Amino acid sequence: MLEPQRSFLITGATGFLGGAVAVAALRAGYGHELLLLARASTEGTPRRRLIENLRRLGATDAELHSLGTDFILEADLASPDAFRGHPQLRSVTRVIHSAALPTFSNNPAIPAVNVEGTLALAHALDQSKMKRFVFVGTAMSVGPSRGHGSVIAESDDLAANDDHLVPYTASKAEAERRLRLELPNMPLVIARPSIVVGHTELGVAPSQSIFWVFLVGQLMRAFTCDLDDLIDVIPADWCANILLALATRESLEHDLYHLSAGMESSVSFAAVDVVMAKALEMPPMGSAYRKVSGSEIVRMLPRMREIAPGANRRLLLRAMQLYGGFAELNYVFDNQRLRREGLAASPPFTSYLPHCVDTARGISIADQMKWDFK
Ligand SMILES: NC(=O)c1ccc[n+]([C@@H]2O[C@H](COP(=O)([O-])OP(=O)(O)OC[C@H]3O[C@@H](n4cnc5c(N)ncnc54)[C@H](OP(=O)(O)O)[C@@H]3O)[C@@H](O)[C@H]2O)c1
Repeated sequence: MLEPQRSFLITGATGFLGGAVAVAALRAGYGHELLLLARASTEGTPRRRLIENLRRLGATDAELHSLGTDFILEADLASPDAFRGHPQLRSVTRVIHSAALPTFSNNPAIPAVNVEGTLALAHALDQSKMKRFVFVGTAMSVGPSRGHGSVIAESDDLAANDDHLVPYTASKAEAERRLRLELPNMPLVIARPSIVVGHTELGVAPSQSIFWVFLVGQLMRAFTCDLDDLIDVIPADWCANILLALATRESLEHDLYHLSAGMESSVSFAAVDVVMAKALEMPPMGSAYRKVSGSEIVRMLPRMREIAPGANRRLLLRAMQLYGGFAELNYVFDNQRLRREGLAASPPFTSYLPHCVDTARGISIADQMKWDFK
């Protein structure tokens, strides 16, 4: 029997968000149309890593079966020559491009993967067939200079290359700019998620990325923000469903959206404190909480190491300072465009946080941190 045409390309499906997107697409019945881009790795074949990750993110046997056999495009974004004229790309009409190096390190491969790889992939597609190319950017592409507590509007206004806390966010902003500039006729939609933590049904079992930072702050009873500051966190499964809607809806009002909690669903650190303390069966931080500056975090390293025994000292400090720097901005990302499309609001972080705490039990913080330093 002839294999069906694979017209719906998803990248990053061995990762947290891209994997959740692929599961959402399977659930919505797109299995036979999906083409999943994954790179070779010493950790297993692309097929094995994809299947394991989709299972981890809740895919059933029947959903996996709906993928058929010929659903993998083995390619590395850092080797763009691999895409040019690739026969599996000829039938692609929709893309959700989630793959990236979303690391806060100074990994020298960031520009090659996040910028050049993205552009090479987009250029390799048959533009005459394209219906939608959803680029998964990041809301933090606006940079750190908008002022404490800003509500960030959904706009093309991106921070300059030298106005970023980390090379990663600069690379995502650069990829957006270049996609618009070099492919002005591509049906591009920029989707900028805020902070993805956990999953409403699976807690943090599929990935503890970023969750551990909240845990360390709670146990230290100190972090870089005020307790009444808001935090714009979204769950991976909600974000995945929104990305799928943006990729498959016949028409959209805009070509750029924040995928965020916004004013409606962002929660205060005080609310996180109460819910997390209850789930951890300990008293809330309340008045014992201390707001510290990024530089004061250095002095807290001995306490952090007690909380996270076995964690790499340098990574722990760098991560807490960087995440502290982002939290200190206290940005909320306006999401009115999504809401006007009639798409559901994000569940507030506190609504599924107890499940995150439960599913992190028994996993050391040193092990949880590995999700952010792959
Ligand atoms: N997590 C957040 O809070 C957040 C917030 C805003 C935006 N985002 C965006 O969401 C997207 C997904 O993030 P995530 O948290 O799901 O990250 P993740 O779990 O680290 O997944 C990254 C994915 O990209 C793939 N990838 C990396 N380098 C590649 C390469 N050279 N060639 C092909 N594939 C490559 C990875 O494949 P391997 O398995 O082979 O490494 C993995 O599938 C990223 O674009 C990120 O910028 C995330």
